[in-house]
Amino acid sequence: MRVILCGFGVVGQSLVKLFNSRSEDLYAQYGLKPRVVGVCDSKGSAVDTSGLELEKLVEVKKKFGTVKNYGKTKNNMSGIDMIRNLDADVVIETTASNYKDAEPGMSHIITAMKRRMHVVSVNKGPLALAFPSLMELATYNQVIFKFSGTVGGGTPILDYAKNSLRGERITSFAGILNGTTNYILSNMTNGLSFDSALKDAKNRGYVEADESLDLDGLDAAAKLVILANWIMGMKVTLPDIDCKGIRNVTVNDIRNASKNNCAIKLIASCNRELVVKPKEVSVDDPLCVNGTLNAIAFTSEHSGTQTIIGKGAGGMETASSILRDLLDIRQEIAKI
Ligand SMILES: NC(=O)c1ccc[n+]([C@@H]2O[C@H](COP(=O)([O-])OP(=O)(O)OC[C@H]3O[C@@H](n4cnc5c(N)ncnc54)[C@H](OP(=O)(O)O)[C@@H]3O)[C@@H](O)[C@H]2O)c1
Repeated sequence: MRVILCGFGVVGQSLVKLFNSRSEDLYAQYGLKPRVVGVCDSKGSAVDTSGLELEKLVEVKKKFGTVKNYGKTKNNMSGIDMIRNLDADVVIETTASNYKDAEPGMSHIITAMKRRMHVVSVNKGPLALAFPSLMELATYNQVIFKFSGTVGGGTPILDYAKNSLRGERITSFAGILNGTTNYILSNMTNGLSFDSALKDAKNRGYVEADESLDLDGLDAAAKLVILANWIMGMKVTLPDIDCKGIRNVTVNDIRNASKNNCAIKLIASCNRELVVKPKEVSVDDPLCVNGTLNAIAFTSEHSGTQTIIGKGAGGMETASSILRDLLDIRQEIAKI
């Protein structure tokens, strides 16, 4: 399977390490042999149509801060150039999420689909801004579009709702979908002020470079868009979400909640309306997880409410979701 990898940050590098460490067993167990023919970061690219050496790629990135020093030629190709000019089966999109224009991820995905390449994206931006049209484009071009890692990192939230609950009618869901705000709110429950809890989260590297993505609820809202489209069949984008972050949550609010045996959590919910906002949740509710954990409760017509809990982020965890998507694509292709 020939792969173009756009973005070589935490997730991109974890994926390449995973390919390397699992290569024998991926082939033996699943017949999957990924051949990475091109990788780009913000400064340049590395290309080899016979397959890049994965260990060397990681070493070069570590030493020079970019993959462009991998080889002497074709190191100035952008992601779009690689997708337009190289032959590949799958494009994996791991560039940074943004919710203004979703670039460069949006163009990577659209160009790949038009070239009839399957796409795996962990980048939420393009899905948050254009989920319905990207699905249509994938269908029109007869390509597979997978995005397991966009919600829950390595925890298979989308797959659970779509596949394990197949045949059921999910009537509503609610979840904690952003680990950073959950970490901050948990620490406030333990007595820290908002500013100290934010500082601690930043020191631990939990906060996005643009802190507003976490604090103002945009990351959770993007995930809600993806869930609403994929699980509930709604055709919505980011402006359809009623979104409020955690900046105005005070220690007093948290104290008052605890008098009711509750904690304040940033909840993304779909129950007729699509809302992200801080809410009181009973500490006895399985949804009430602490630290950076994510949790989501699906309520369905016949099987009641089920809650999934797991780590919502992490390089290796998210890379493992990409691997799941690739295995699904491999299986689909094998059927044709
Ligand atoms: N980290 C997680 O736990 C996690 C979990 C779920 C989803 N995600 C999503 O996965 C994506 C990647 O996350 P990450 O943690 O790996 O982020 P990251 O470490 O910031 O990596 C982003 C990568 O994108 C590259 N990039 C930025 N602009 C580019 C451009 N114009 N052309 C080509 N490459 C460009 C960066 O290049 P440089 O290396 O040169 O800066 C970097 O390699 C994001 O969309 C994120 O929201 C992450």
